[in-house]
Amino acid sequence: MNQQDQILQLVNWLKSSTSTIVLTGAGMSTESGIPDFRSQSGWWNKIDPRTVATVEALENHYALFHDFYSYRIQSLEKYTPHEGHYILGQWENKGVLDCVATQNVDGFHQLAGNRKVNELHGTIKTIRCHSCNQPATLSEFLNKEVCKHCSGKLRPNVVLFGETLPEHSWMDSLNRIRRADLVIVIGTSLEIYPVSQLPVMTEGKKVYVNLDIHDHARFDLMIKGKAKEILKLVNNIL
Ligand code: APR
Repeated sequence: MNQQDQILQLVNWLKSSTSTIVLTGAGMSTESGIPDFRSQSGWWNKIDPRTVATVEALENHYALFHDFYSYRIQSLEKYTPHEGHYILGQWENKGVLDCVATQNVDGFHQLAGNRKVNELHGTIKTIRCHSCNQPATLSEFLNKEVCKHCSGKLRPNVVLFGETLPEHSWMDSLNRIRRADLVIVIGTSLEIYPVSQLPVMTEGKKVYVNLDIHDHARFDLMIKGKAKEILKLVNNIL
């Protein structure tokens, strides 16, 4: 099937669907300039994730942990959501999609107008104490301050490797995907458990939009391409 026919197929499924869920990953934000993790230019090709994105790194190598997340927090200010993010925001407003479940911590779906967003791997935009869980400010974290309640280490509210996902975001995404007519997976390698299992949980149609196509979940349709470009092509004829 050529790409034009694939786009038409997806448009038909979107039009006939009564409940559509979009699941995104870092590939959704690379066209905004934010690197993903496992592509050639991805973070994990530059840094060993065990040294910066684990509880062990937080507790025993705080300087490196702090540098990594401070850099990502400060560099986020340079970037903005792209047209693809805004199209998903419009689709929610028009009732074309019910919810965006994302592995991204950049908050771009909300900035682009989506209200129903499940942040499955947390957010980099808020801070808490690792010991007492009391909230703290971004500037307290960036200034390398300790928790003013217990002197504990401050950290972003991201889910580190080995930590459990936010209960509500996970259960709500799982339940919505189970009952969905259509699940569209955009810009993720689907290599990280348990999110990698979500697509196979649906009875509905499964569509994969990604630069690298790997058929992890036996998709009904796989469109090889860039998130923003494919979303624009779909939106043009929807
Ligand atoms: N459009 C579509 N796909 C893209 C684009 C793009 N513009 N840019 C990159 N991709 C694809 C890549 O080919 C890759 O398959 O997006 C995928 C991104 O995969 P990863 O880098 O593995 O990111 P992700 O799947 O979100 O990682 C999951 O792993 O490191 C942890 O917590 C981190 O949430 C992250 C999780």
